Amino acid sequence: MQETLSIIKPDGVANNLVGKIISRFEEAGLEICAIKKIRLSKPDAKAFYAVHKDQAFFADLIDFMVSGPVVISVLKGQDAVNKNRELMGATNPKEAKAGTIRADFAKSIDANTVHGSDSEENAKNEISFFFARQDIY
Ligand code: CMP
Repeated sequence: MQETLSIIKPDGVANNLVGKIISRFEEAGLEICAIKKIRLSKPDAKAFYAVHKDQAFFADLIDFMVSGPVVISVLKGQDAVNKNRELMGATNPKEAKAGTIRADFAKSIDANTVHGSDSEENAKNEISFFFARQDIY
């Protein structure tokens, strides 16, 4: 069993897609082990995405991620990191396969509806950024 971190981004929350997206996780066999709705502070968004700090898109990414509430969850299941990435589709919704979350709901590479950890190691770091171990069931 593996864990991964999912963020339903401000566009997904504003468009009332939380239930639809969570259903896709559950239907794919991923279990919701922790979940919360929060509004990211700018320092937290910058710290979470620190790996991208030198990218030209960093400032726009941070502005977007703090523009409204997000829903953050820990997903657990067999091969959870890759399974979640398959469900999400490519980062750029124009390149995402039909039937994926980003192909179905995302409007742009910034407003791409969901974030998911890209490796098991990053998943561990991202989960501990948002959740205490005792709050994950
Ligand atoms: P996410 O999976 O949250 O990780 C970093 C985010 O940066 C990414 O999704 C996109 O929303 C955003 N982003 C904006 N421009 C780019 C780009 N050119 N390449 C990768 N990510 C980008």
